[in-house]
Amino acid sequence: MNNQWSHIQTEIVKNAGTITLNRPEVLNALNTMMVSEIVQAMENFDQDQTVKVIVLKGAGRAFAAGADIDEMLDKNAIELELLNQFSDWDRIARIKKPIIGAVHGFVLGGGFELALCCDILLASQYTEFGFPEAGLGIMPGAGGTQRLTKLIGHARAMKWLLTGERFSAEDAWQYGIVSSIVPDQLLVEETEKMAEAIAKKPPLSVRLIKESVHKANELSLAEGMQQERKNFYLLFSSEDQKEGLRAFKEKRKADFKGR
Ligand code: CAA
Repeated sequence: MNNQWSHIQTEIVKNAGTITLNRPEVLNALNTMMVSEIVQAMENFDQDQTVKVIVLKGAGRAFAAGADIDEMLDKNAIELELLNQFSDWDRIARIKKPIIGAVHGFVLGGGFELALCCDILLASQYTEFGFPEAGLGIMPGAGGTQRLTKLIGHARAMKWLLTGERFSAEDAWQYGIVSSIVPDQLLVEETEKMAEAIAKKPPLSVRLIKESVHKANELSLAEGMQQERKNFYLLFSSEDQKEGLRAFKEKRKADFKGR
């Protein structure tokens, strides 16, 4: 466990770089320092050749109950503009390795926005999702109105964002927000299994698949298809592509090198 941080903990287990949000006394409310540490830890893992996949989870009884209300209390618009705190969030979109979010308890406001930055979400059966911002006289500011709408559509996004009602893991699964719901006591184990499965895959395939899926949100179908094809061709310059196909023909386990 790495304790160089004040608001998170990090460790590398079986090629998974794990980041644990660690302010359980305030349900992992995200203050500027915490977001900055999360993003820095992600970038460190992105550069670390021993890390193949990044896992994000919360300590205590929540993943994260939103941005830190105490920190926002006395801020004015100019201070927020000068602080430019959301630029840290933008850096998450540039992480090349897959990010698995393992969420439980409360996933609210900024905590939900952080979860929406993950590539795969596993949720404990008791997880509660929601955007309570409207009830506080503010609104989501780290992508909530945009990412949620792209993911679940206008009608549902409007309902959840405007009412601030919380919804269940089951709802989140039905809307395509989470990949799987798992029993609470199995969340860590199931997340590790998924991380291990991805970590065993050749990293260049994983990287270009992640990039291509993200392009589906940004480009037209024709542009996205073009991007996919280029990435497909690019993999044919890798040693792992030769190894993967040959290993299949020779009926042996592939030995991927990440090149
Ligand atoms: N910021 C700061 N502190 C928070 C917090 C937050 N977002 N959420 C919880 N806490 C603190 C509480 O103040 C409390 O501290 P004290 O013990 O010192 O009173 C502690 O965490 C435990 O919380 P509760 O006693 O309230 O626990 P509960 O089980 O009764 O309720 C809850 C849980 C329903 C999640 C409730 O804490 C809550 O409503 N939290 C706020 C949720 C929220 O509004 N989030 C959105 C924030 S705005 C945002 O995120 C903007 C953005 O998009 C960038």
